[in-house]
Amino acid sequence: MKKDTKKAENAVMENIISLSKRRGFIFQGSEVYGGLAGTWDYGPLGVILKQNVKNIWWKRFVTDREDMYGMDAAILMNQNVWKASGHVGGFSDPLVECTKCKRRFRADQLDPELRKKNECPECGGKLGAEKQFNMMFRTHVGATEDEGAVSYLRPETAQGMFVNFKNVLDTFHPKLPFGMAQIGKAFRNEIAPRDFLFRTREFEQMEIEYFVDPKNWKPVFEHFVAEMHAFIADVGLDPKKVHELEVPDGERAHYSMRTIDFEYDWPFGRKELYGLAYRTDYDLKAHAKASNVDLSYFDEEAKVRFVPHVIEPSFGVDRTVLAILADSYREDELGGEKRAYLAFSPNVAPVKVAVFPLLKNKDALTSKAREIYQVLRKEFGAVEYDEAGSIGKRYRRQDEIGTPFCVTVDFDTIEKPNNPVTVRDRDSGKQESIPLKDLVSLLSQKLNK
Ligand code: GAP
Repeated sequence: MKKDTKKAENAVMENIISLSKRRGFIFQGSEVYGGLAGTWDYGPLGVILKQNVKNIWWKRFVTDREDMYGMDAAILMNQNVWKASGHVGGFSDPLVECTKCKRRFRADQLDPELRKKNECPECGGKLGAEKQFNMMFRTHVGATEDEGAVSYLRPETAQGMFVNFKNVLDTFHPKLPFGMAQIGKAFRNEIAPRDFLFRTREFEQMEIEYFVDPKNWKPVFEHFVAEMHAFIADVGLDPKKVHELEVPDGERAHYSMRTIDFEYDWPFGRKELYGLAYRTDYDLKAHAKASNVDLSYFDEEAKVRFVPHVIEPSFGVDRTVLAILADSYREDELGGEKRAYLAFSPNVAPVKVAVFPLLKNKDALTSKAREIYQVLRKEFGAVEYDEAGSIGKRYRRQDEIGTPFCVTVDFDTIEKPNNPVTVRDRDSGKQESIPLKDLVSLLSQKLNK
């Protein structure tokens, strides 16, 4: 890659990271102690953005469907779960350590030239032999630290659903096909966390295990390809930046017969956003064998018993947040002034509307603006009131956090018969005067409510 392109990509990421911190979206984890690599903390605006993503996902994949059962399994699980799933034996990345500076790298992510020469990209020292490094965080449950007390922070939410398959079957008696869905934290001791929220050691996943008769896996797989694209559109990502990659034989996870990676054009290159895998009956069979519990399904109509196969759409919450930030970040000039802003889709914007009185020292204006603010809050929830500084500064502040619309109350609002307010559009900066009685319906339309 050319040096200039790399520099521009880094600048985009630096701007996104700096705006995220400056405006209370995302902070470095444990910052006052110098940070903890691979961890990030969501601030007041970031947590709403992230929650909006999770709500949109839950609505599309759980609430709006009749065939999906929600779950929230424990993060800590019996160690046998991870032995049976293959994670204890095989959830590892290739690691090399520099014999001189002792830095550690993922062997498969090193510059191929340096890898060939066995040369450290940091100090030029000699790299040691490649080892497999298991990425699960190990811990002990209870007061003893012997092998029997070992547990792991889950590296994927999926297993919580496989081990509850029988519970859902026994309590809800669903017919195939049906799915289980959950959103929750996952942990991976990544050798090289990098690129802000892209690869972290603690992150959230939104996963579905969809159980099918093996005869029918193909159309279900295609259905979820379409649904994943639909979700990508729901959160407002540019579809032109999303690409399907058919993962070839030999490169798929140990459990998968078919995988499509949904890749995204990040500022640092095209890399995975989400994954869709055909996990076959690998997991249910493995857990049935290791636990001695029957995890089969009886088809009443066909009078046959079999172990269902699984289609798994898997989404990273934090990667979605990063893609939204990267997609939305814009710099332009408005009214002769430079500005940086986030062109969030109204669906995900943490603040939907901001209300300002033209002047803060005129009671008639502030009380009318507060009255409108309360009405809009009831209607749209995420509404802010701001009276500090000039109107121009208030617009810039809202643009920077991606608020789609600002409403200004001026003397016309209190003096003219139809009480006009000014509605300003974030992206174009265009302002329109509309009668107060039409405000809620106009904003509802614009916000797709
Ligand atoms: N259950 C399947 C599974 O976990 P994966 O491809 O390893 O598959 C699924 O992970 C998704 O989780 C990824 O597509 C990505 O969005 C997210 N993800 C994985 N590792 C991550 C990390 N270290 N940091 C942030 N997100 C991650």
